[in-house]
Amino acid sequence: MDHFDYKNGALAAEDMPISDIAEAVGTPFYCYSTATIERHYRVFAEALAGLSATICYAVKANSNIAVIKTLADLGAGADVVSSGELTRALKAGVPADKIVFSGVGKTRDELAHALQENILQINIESEPELQALNEVAGSMGVTAPVAFRINPDIDAHTHDKISTGRSEDKFGIEWTRIHDVITRASDLANIEIAGLAMHIGSQLTELEPFRQAFIRLRDVVAILRADGHNLPRLDLGGGLGIPYDAAATPSPADYGKVVTEVLGDLEAELLFEPGRLIVGNAGILVTRIVYVKEGATRRFLILDAAMNDLVRPSLYEAKHDIVPVSEPNSGANLERVDVVGPVCETGDTFATELDLPSAEAGDLLAIRSAGAYGAVMASTYNSRALIPEVMVNGNAYSIIRERIDPDTLINYENLPNWDS
Ligand code: LLP
Repeated sequence: MDHFDYKNGALAAEDMPISDIAEAVGTPFYCYSTATIERHYRVFAEALAGLSATICYAVKANSNIAVIKTLADLGAGADVVSSGELTRALKAGVPADKIVFSGVGKTRDELAHALQENILQINIESEPELQALNEVAGSMGVTAPVAFRINPDIDAHTHDKISTGRSEDKFGIEWTRIHDVITRASDLANIEIAGLAMHIGSQLTELEPFRQAFIRLRDVVAILRADGHNLPRLDLGGGLGIPYDAAATPSPADYGKVVTEVLGDLEAELLFEPGRLIVGNAGILVTRIVYVKEGATRRFLILDAAMNDLVRPSLYEAKHDIVPVSEPNSGANLERVDVVGPVCETGDTFATELDLPSAEAGDLLAIRSAGAYGAVMASTYNSRALIPEVMVNGNAYSIIRERIDPDTLINYENLPNWDS
């Protein structure tokens, strides 16, 4: 459930009319709802109520410091994957002892940054990375708390580009080798074995792959514990999918039941790294129709937003709901349209052959479910701006990131000095 609804004939974020924000801020912009973020966090936390659980919000989904702070205020930790995300999480007020650092290619500088900040744990994904961390920790005179990410070789049944738990994927240490790796790790002077980690993919719409992966994790834990490794923490990653259209997705409560059934009696602290589930449906991308163009075989709504603002349809064939900001009359005429951006690629398409209430140039549209992997994946392709992010709370809004115009970016460019 989200807080983007029609009120008095116009789309509102909570109690704030979208068209008022568009008037003041200009289009396109991302709009987030505080109440929705908070609600999604609480629903997930309640689903885990019977467990010893810490929720480390996956900052990569939406890393605006205002979004992270909203969650930190509710008690969330953070899952970060770069020095930049670590800086954001700390700046937003996430306590260091609730931060985990994931990622397949952390540099020595990033590992040092994590150790310096004394974060909860570093999730190690390979033996070379383990060696590097041992050396970096040694040179700093500290011990690094480590969880080993296992690759359980389970197919998450999601889009190929966001599946991470199959043996051919670059992530984690093969589950069959984890015993050897941990045995060697216990001889390393600057490594403390804190537990295991896992993340099999994103936008999972079935619970069965989670169950299979958790069973594999449980089996690995049993073998390692029999060998004297305590493993006090198990990090189960994120990945629970959200409804992008009318399709049903598993509820957090049902996910919580699977976790409890498979891992509930393991006497371990469980970490969770949800991203999309918390923020995905808490954001929309607001855009204006620039032209309505009658093509030879299609009618095109050409928007002022493009693939550089929301790349998911181009990159993952994702389908995001698109709705008019002005509420259509019941029984309004539907027209079949392609909804496209102005970027010079056919891939810059948000929807094809969509039935939308008839619309004109100048009308506002909202592209839904843009709160996760929207702004964070934006680029300046075609020398377009990085558009503003706006956060609504009740009947107030705040610009939580200003527009960054091409002029600003061009200022960072130099003509080589051999031209002068
Ligand atoms: N933990 C780890 C280690 C991850 O790699 C990810 C996402 C998450 C947690 C959070 O997953 P979530 O709960 O959001 O599914 N750009 C893609 C999604 C990439 C996900 C990458 N890793 C998209 O727009 O669909």
